Amino acid sequence: MAKEGNGQETGVVRGLGDVVAANSRLGCVDGEQGKLWYCGYDAIDLAREGCYEETLYLLLHGKLPAAQQLDALRREMGRQRHIAPALMQLLHSLPGAPTSMEALRTTVSALSATDPSPLDKSRQANLRRAIRIVAQMPTLATAHWRMRQGEQPIPPRDDLSHAANLYYMLHGRVPSEAETRILDMCLILMAEHELNASTFAVRVVASTLSDIYASLTAGIGALNGPLHGAANTEVMKMLLEVDHLGDIDEYVQVALGAKRRIMGFGHRVYKTSDPRAVFLRQALTEMGSQLPGVHWFRLADQIRDVVFKYKQLYPNVDFYAAPALYGLGFPMEMFTSIFACARSAGWGAHVLEQYDDNRLIRPTTCYTGARQQAYVPLAQRERRSSISVGVAVEAAESQPPAA
Ligand code: COA
Repeated sequence: MAKEGNGQETGVVRGLGDVVAANSRLGCVDGEQGKLWYCGYDAIDLAREGCYEETLYLLLHGKLPAAQQLDALRREMGRQRHIAPALMQLLHSLPGAPTSMEALRTTVSALSATDPSPLDKSRQANLRRAIRIVAQMPTLATAHWRMRQGEQPIPPRDDLSHAANLYYMLHGRVPSEAETRILDMCLILMAEHELNASTFAVRVVASTLSDIYASLTAGIGALNGPLHGAANTEVMKMLLEVDHLGDIDEYVQVALGAKRRIMGFGHRVYKTSDPRAVFLRQALTEMGSQLPGVHWFRLADQIRDVVFKYKQLYPNVDFYAAPALYGLGFPMEMFTSIFACARSAGWGAHVLEQYDDNRLIRPTTCYTGARQQAYVPLAQRERRSSISVGVAVEAAESQPPAA
């Protein structure tokens, strides 16, 4: 049935808030209680006790791995980290000065060209592809960044964990235990988040039975907006600006007065604290003295208090992920790419889940445009518009000159 009207009458839900659009056994956000579950496990427990590889296994298989299964996944990821020389060349030859996310979007799309078995559409092949993309995204992101700085990319190491290897490929140094821990926690907390904008984009593309590369490319595109994944970069810019200004109250009041969004605050689903932000803040506070970014965590806390005083908004995960990544020496232009690397686990799992029980995702609109327009051939339209211009000129000329 066609629908028309102003939306409210016809049940349009702007931004699809609270619309249930898929069954999923992956992430579950309890916005009232401030809880986040991955396949029934509290994401905070995974961040506290587990590792990113375990989280990836959980999302892809729906259960935690046994030691042997985890070892096998680690070995597989280590093997898959290397990318084809042709992709390195592509990174090198990208025109202009693409941002980290632009380079990642293009090269994740291009990964399909190096798929070892492109004709195999089986579930097993898609599972292998999901792991391969998760393993290769950090290589692409760090290689691009280093090339942009005029430095040689650092080849991945297969003896390091996913987090430690990511850090190593950027800095050329194996991170300390504390640094690895912080990065691993950030990656786990960003790995999955139910039907957020980028995951929805991923599932829409997968629902057409397009391939996993196309689906994740769409996810990267959606994540790159400042209302979604790019908020972490904006948070860091704000921290630097506030630090320079030296007056948090003034900054927040001016921003709110001008109806500007304060990045890293608010959430569509959480009506209370985002548990990822709460946990990350606590972990950073406990480990802060071992990390160089301690100043930024303290400043973030002060901003949090002032924003709450004026607007009662809670910080979201980006608000603490930004100072954490900055403290680890990641350039802020790369923050969203790090987020994309982490979220590739959830995206890949959602693609598999969509394929397992697929129906084309195809909502409808509430039509608000004109109706019953009579088509006027181009020549007549031209004539009509020149007549109306002529009439307008004549009318203007017949006006008495302004005094
Ligand atoms: N700063 C200032 N005001 C904010 C805000 C923020 N970060 N987030 C929400 N609000 C305000 C809106 O201005 C609006 O106020 P109003 O009712 O007085 O007009 C109200 O809260 C509701 O906002 P709305 O845009 O309808 O909520 P949403 O569910 O669509 O937005 C976000 C969710 C995440 C897009 C929004 O909170 C935001 O823009 N946050 C900043 C970007 C960010 O951190 N994104 C990462 C999310 S993990």
